[in-house]
Amino acid sequence: MPTNRTFTMIKPDAVADGFSGPIIQQIEAAGFKIIAIKKVHLSKEEAGKFYAIHAERPFYQSLCDYMSSGAIIPMVLEKDNAVEDFRKLIGSTNPEQAAEGTIRKQFARSLESNAIHGSDSDENAAIEAAFFFSEKELA
Ligand code: TYD
Repeated sequence: MPTNRTFTMIKPDAVADGFSGPIIQQIEAAGFKIIAIKKVHLSKEEAGKFYAIHAERPFYQSLCDYMSSGAIIPMVLEKDNAVEDFRKLIGSTNPEQAAEGTIRKQFARSLESNAIHGSDSDENAAIEAAFFFSEKELA
């Protein structure tokens, strides 16, 4: 995957709260182009695979329950400096600590139900995109 791309997903709380539209609007207004998008409902097992890196953390089971509790909207986005700029746009993991105007500050419910994911490196963006999208969908 080109290095000017990142992977995101709008998480179950934000989809259920009806915030998908405003969130996508802010992403596009910030200059990101949507390369691929879909709506899916993960099983707990699939959520566990996506977050396998956190398997030993105390919040892992709860995170997998939450991420499989409703539909999510995974997307691949394109922009110069995509990974870093997108992490800035979404804000800190904990919405209470997120800067004003960030997506998590505006739309997240809590540290766990924090509205949106953003890849933390080019390498992870490619791995996470491939979890949801085929090569053809990413072409
Ligand atoms: P992490 O990869 O640390 O954060 P980010 O999504 O900002 O890259 O954690 C993954 C998700 O796990 C995070 O979005 C919310 C959840 N989480 C908790 O529920 N409790 C915690 O203490 C942490 C650190 C994360």
